Amino acid sequence: MRMIAIGCDHGGFILKTAVIEYLKDNNIEFKDFGTYSDESVDYAVYAELVARAVVSGECECGLLFCGTGVGISIAANKVKGIRAACCSDAFSAEMTRRHNDANILCLGGRVVTPEKAVELCKIFLNTPFSNEERHIRRITQITDLENRF
Ligand code: RB5
Repeated sequence: MRMIAIGCDHGGFILKTAVIEYLKDNNIEFKDFGTYSDESVDYAVYAELVARAVVSGECECGLLFCGTGVGISIAANKVKGIRAACCSDAFSAEMTRRHNDANILCLGGRVVTPEKAVELCKIFLNTPFSNEERHIRRITQITDLENRF
């Protein structure tokens, strides 16, 4: 059974709530790392919790939400092994799985509606990595880059 890590700041709380409802309705297991209200918090805290759960193998992948999806994706991408993609359209959500083997999807509560967020998470969770040689090569280059700094 797959386990999904999920987290947000106050700006993404409404999206996390909607996506959790979708996960529950579809019997998809998840760990909710907070935040648990729309009270102001700092997004890097939740990015780290979700990113750690993914790189440790505790969770297969992660879903993160903030106001724009940008801050929380920048923070998550500081964790070695994380490929967090900030998306707002279906094509990007699909291609970041197929081509980048992204392991965290980041969405913005001030950018997409809760309905769109559910649609994008559904695509992200149901799209496999292509496993094509050229994409493996490019991801390996990203990992090499990360290891040189
Ligand atoms: C918080 O106001 C906001 O800055 C945050 O949710 C996010 O949009 C940052 O990128």
